[in-house]
Amino acid sequence: MVGMGNGRRIGGISISLLSCNCNSNNYLVFPSSVKLKSAAVFGVSLPNPNPWAGVAVFTTFPFRAANDSKNKKVAKAKATSARVGVGMGLVKEKRRTRSNKDYDYESIIQQQQSSHIPVMLGEVLDVFSSSRTITSFVDCTLGAAGHSSAIIRAHPELKLHIGVDVDPSALAKARAHLNSLLHGQAHPHLKTHTFAKNFRHIKSVLGQIDENILRSGVDAILMDLGMSSMQVNNPERGFSVLGDGPLDMRMDPQASLKAEDILNSWPDAEVGRVLREYGEESNWHLLQNKIVQARLRGGLHSTGELVDLIQSVTPGMRGRRQGWIKTATRVFQALRIAVNDELKTLESSLHACFDCLAPGGRLGVISFHSLEDRIVKQTFLSIIDHNREDAEGNEEELRNIRDDNINETWIRQIIQGWNGKILTKRPITPSAEEERLNCRCRSAKLRVIQKI
Ligand SMILES: C[S@@+](CC[C@H](N)C(=O)[O-])C[C@H]1O[C@@H](n2cnc3c(N)ncnc32)[C@H](O)[C@@H]1O
Repeated sequence: MVGMGNGRRIGGISISLLSCNCNSNNYLVFPSSVKLKSAAVFGVSLPNPNPWAGVAVFTTFPFRAANDSKNKKVAKAKATSARVGVGMGLVKEKRRTRSNKDYDYESIIQQQQSSHIPVMLGEVLDVFSSSRTITSFVDCTLGAAGHSSAIIRAHPELKLHIGVDVDPSALAKARAHLNSLLHGQAHPHLKTHTFAKNFRHIKSVLGQIDENILRSGVDAILMDLGMSSMQVNNPERGFSVLGDGPLDMRMDPQASLKAEDILNSWPDAEVGRVLREYGEESNWHLLQNKIVQARLRGGLHSTGELVDLIQSVTPGMRGRRQGWIKTATRVFQALRIAVNDELKTLESSLHACFDCLAPGGRLGVISFHSLEDRIVKQTFLSIIDHNREDAEGNEEELRNIRDDNINETWIRQIIQGWNGKILTKRPITPSAEEERLNCRCRSAKLRVIQKI
């Protein structure tokens, strides 16, 4: 039952206090009689045997009349983005922890030797904190070695650094950066190894260095998923919506499948599935038909042709960022995921990486879209065999983990399993300052698991 207090208008916003319930998926449930056109929700949980019953919710509603047709579309779009299920009256809570770490853009830029700015660098350094002894570190996505270089600088005790990247051109740059870093640094005991490999082969990579490493495990592993700026900015790779180039999109230039093959020769239904499942594109069927029709005219052979096709099916929004660019970004994402088989690779690799950790070792993963993040979240839960998704670490556990390192204030809620702990019940997202200064980080989410 909902009780709604008197709404007060403050600067065009009406503030209301109302109570509602929350279902098992942590959706706040409002009766459909409550007209939520757009609502910001600030929840305060009241003591109750059922933790989700009797949640007091402060909401802000725009006070224009609900039937104001001028605002209808805007309100609908806002409501959708706030995940308000109109019929059911559902509002999805934000489930993330925004980092409040200072972001020193200038010093990060100064330390980079490439156009790529490592995302959430301070947060990653906290995860592999310098007050924890780390003797072995595996960077599964070496890229321009931005994260790796910072970790090497922060850990003079490091003895083994292993860098893996499926893209040999990234690896060549990373090797040069690491060489120049190690040349001027006092790291007499550090051995670095780099491999042009897919991270799904992490076990064979470690075994190649020394079978004992596989047995004892490593202290830290990082995955910073997706593409580097060097890859996106090179039109020849076909990743960029904005630059014209071949429809390639392979992370590994040795791989046989290109985006062009999917567009021009995969069965119609498979093309549709890729757009729907990997791009979460609502217009997938129309796009599928257009792509298949384009085959009759010789097919699609450049990113520019694909973008033209996308623009032609979003005519009302042509030229507007909200329109075709968003659709194009989703289509490009879908093709990239399919070309590189990214989701299956990620899931199996997370298991493999966890197996490679030493007791107490940590795996940190930065993902850039919801499909990846969902896989990281669910795979972490399955790794620690925790079937109660919403279980939280109790105060004692939190105290124990904080006792390990008193400075680890970034750990807010943990999920305890029999063989590991998820240290980020909610993913950490970049600070507002980082988001302002590096738009590439906007969708980044960092999740961390620790082996027991
Ligand atoms: C976002 S960049 C990493 C940037 C790096 N952390 C830095 O600070 O410079 C991601 C890198 O991961 C690589 N990559 C993507 N998928 C991979 C996979 N399955 N196996 C190995 N490397 C992969 C890409 O080639 C790219 O260089």
